[in-house]
Amino acid sequence: AAGQEDVRAIISRHAHREGALLPILHAIQADRGWIDETAIRTVAHALNLSRAEVHGVVSFYHDFRTRPEPRPVIKLCRAEACQARGSEPLAEWAQSRAGDRVAIEPVYCLGLCSVGPNAMLGDDVHARLDQASLGALIEAL
Ligand code: FES
Repeated sequence: AAGQEDVRAIISRHAHREGALLPILHAIQADRGWIDETAIRTVAHALNLSRAEVHGVVSFYHDFRTRPEPRPVIKLCRAEACQARGSEPLAEWAQSRAGDRVAIEPVYCLGLCSVGPNAMLGDDVHARLDQASLGALIEAL
């Protein structure tokens, strides 16, 4: 798991923009898979917000998680290029195939748009996914 340092690095990457809170929270969530109390405190302090304000935002959006996901997570790209290649119906199919055993989560562009639909599983990127290959990934978990 990442440490405090990474949260600070994430904050300094985004702090200059207006409405930095959401991009910062998204980046922390993407980096660690969840947003813990320490991260909330660090973000609140850096952006001059109260902890309650940051908490409010974290609990408002379903994308944010305040504890680690216990299941294996497949992050299926839902950005434009992968969407054009059918990632939406593929995600729906995958979630029903996986049931409660595996979490199928959206991610927005893995930088491999020409070979989508793509997904991340741990640190591995899987390209050109279809029901057969994604199904095999799910079964192997
Ligand atoms: Fe999916 Fe870029 S849109 S990798």
